Amino acid sequence: MTGSYEDCYARSLRNPHHFWAEAAREIEWVRRPRAVLNDSDPERASWFPGGKLNSCYNALDLHVLAGRGEQTALVYDSPVTQTVRSYTYREVLERVSKLAGALRALGVEKRDRVLLYMPMVPEAVFGMLAAARLGAVHSVVFGGFASGELAQRIQHAAPKVVLTASCGIEPTHVVEYKPLLEAAIARVSNKPAHCVVLQRPERPVSLLAERDLDWGALEAAASPVGCVPVEAKDPLYILYTSGTTGVPKGVVRDNGGHAVALKWSMRHVYDVRPGDVFWAASDIGWVVGHSYIVYAPLFSGCTTILYEGKPVATPDAGSFWRVVEQHGVHTMFAAPTALRAIKREDPDAVLPLRRALGSLRALFLAGERADPETVAWCERALGVPVIDHWWQTETGWPIAANCLGIERLPVKHGSPTRPVPGYDVRVLDDSGVELPAGQTGHLVIKLPLPPGCLRTLWENDAGYEQAYLRRFPGYYQTSDAGYFDADGYLWVMSRTDDIINVAGHRLSTGAMEEVIAAHPDVAECAVAGVKDDLKGQVPVGFVVLNAGVSCSAGDVERDLVARVRERIGPVASFKQVCVVQRLPKTRSGKVLRGTMRKIADSEPYRTPPTIDDPAVLDEIREALRAKGYAR
Ligand code: COA
Ligand code: AMP
Repeated sequence: MTGSYEDCYARSLRNPHHFWAEAAREIEWVRRPRAVLNDSDPERASWFPGGKLNSCYNALDLHVLAGRGEQTALVYDSPVTQTVRSYTYREVLERVSKLAGALRALGVEKRDRVLLYMPMVPEAVFGMLAAARLGAVHSVVFGGFASGELAQRIQHAAPKVVLTASCGIEPTHVVEYKPLLEAAIARVSNKPAHCVVLQRPERPVSLLAERDLDWGALEAAASPVGCVPVEAKDPLYILYTSGTTGVPKGVVRDNGGHAVALKWSMRHVYDVRPGDVFWAASDIGWVVGHSYIVYAPLFSGCTTILYEGKPVATPDAGSFWRVVEQHGVHTMFAAPTALRAIKREDPDAVLPLRRALGSLRALFLAGERADPETVAWCERALGVPVIDHWWQTETGWPIAANCLGIERLPVKHGSPTRPVPGYDVRVLDDSGVELPAGQTGHLVIKLPLPPGCLRTLWENDAGYEQAYLRRFPGYYQTSDAGYFDADGYLWVMSRTDDIINVAGHRLSTGAMEEVIAAHPDVAECAVAGVKDDLKGQVPVGFVVLNAGVSCSAGDVERDLVARVRERIGPVASFKQVCVVQRLPKTRSGKVLRGTMRKIADSEPYRTPPTIDDPAVLDEIREALRAKGYAR
């Protein structure tokens, strides 16, 4: 399918049936699909109807049967525990088949949910694949989320079994997962029947006799089981992601479209082939981890790296380059914030020079807009193509990229290049009229979405329609804003909703506002994402206290920071609160969060003509100055 990008892209939109039929041949089907696409209802297009497959089979069994059993499938590289361990495809298959047997013995069947709350250890990957092997649905919760977020996800997904570990290991401290899990389970009515606990030597925990099971003992006693075929449209996983409210959205990924799209993307977007070493320096709790640590590299017969460490401090800003050298990484994927952290400590890019990085062919960046300075630094430091690409949890694979496996296009710093084949990206104004090149508007994707993208939210069809389809009929609303330039390059500039991006992590300001508003001393509040040199954005809270509050503003600030940390998690990086007398509002009562953000970022702003009292903005500026913003 290589050739020119223009040709490939045009073919994908002109005849998606033919285009994706060809891609689907790369997948091992138990029963071949009856058709490629049923788009009689484009809002819920069904890819590969009638097809039956198993995603775990395509990730593992297929390669062992094809003679790749002794190739390394997974390298676990953990500077925080001083461990490097490799697993061949045969070894991963053995572990996963036994774990699947153990889960089945606990009653897990097709479509049952298995929730994982785990650090970056091989067992987490085995757990995901074991669920997939049974046709069950996994839901991974990022370890940096606290018990409140975890409880919401357990309540909504109602897992039969939770897979967890005794602890996670951060550079400065050990995170005890068990107390967080217990606090979450105490809050929910949908209590899991069992929790399987991986005991880590750094912090073993005691188990509850009637509910908890020791992972090691359970797996050792289990018998391996084979793959359960599922329909292409059956769910493989639910991944909760931040929406504009405090309730996360459970993005549902199917089995068939996902397998086809991810395998196609490895070859055509990333230019990766079987046997190559692929490293996505993300976390399995995020969509990048699902797609490009676990499924795509394994579908493609690659070696994937599972890195339990940070870009800096484990032990230094050279650790990424150590991993590339030690494991012969061919293609790498990271968040711009990680590279900014490295660049800050090694501005002259001395550390990459100390390593033999000859294996590396490309670095892909995503999770937030890759700022031109960081891209330029990476290019200088590594001497390979540095590719910004744009995608979302909802799509599961890139919407726009420089598809190295089709045709390498010239890079424009700040742009994720052009839409990936399959994605009909358009720019619309507020009334839904398409905008010409150069004009910024809502970035939308014409329906039907390509294979692999979400078809609904878990047990929330109405929420799916409302969040993505109602605003612009016939299109999927990405909630990103941007434009096409005259060369057809896409520029993704900002979100159009209350989502912020903190160190590559997607967070909802609405969720933080809910926590703050629940404080007994708070009359009203707003949270805005302000610029941060390292993390891209960080949240800042603005609160108005109730009249007659007896404790000091400082006490309330500290309490609010602690509450957000306890309810949402440390990953929110919520550290700044400005206590103010009033919030700036329009006469109709809408809080002017955008204006507050611009003041904090020292950007020019126009005082909205509808503002209730312009003097409030002066107070906001003073409060922000006191915190080091609005310079
Ligand atoms: N489990 C438990 N806690 C976690 C965690 C996890 N998996 N991940 C992060 N945390 C905690 C950290 O310990 C920290 O807690 P603290 O406030 O007690 O120090 C807090 O969450 C914030 O962590 P982090 O976002 O990692 O910030 P940092 O200042 O420690 O490090 C970076 C800054 C840029 C190095 C780091 O954010 C990073 O590596 N970002 C890349 C993220 C990424 O790859 N995203 C991929 C999305 S595609
Ligand atoms: P997530 O669902 O966590 O992957 O976050 C998706 C959001 O991150 C997108 O909607 C964008 O706002 C932002 N994003 C991801 N990649 C990019 C990119 N390359 N350029 C600009 N924004 C990006």
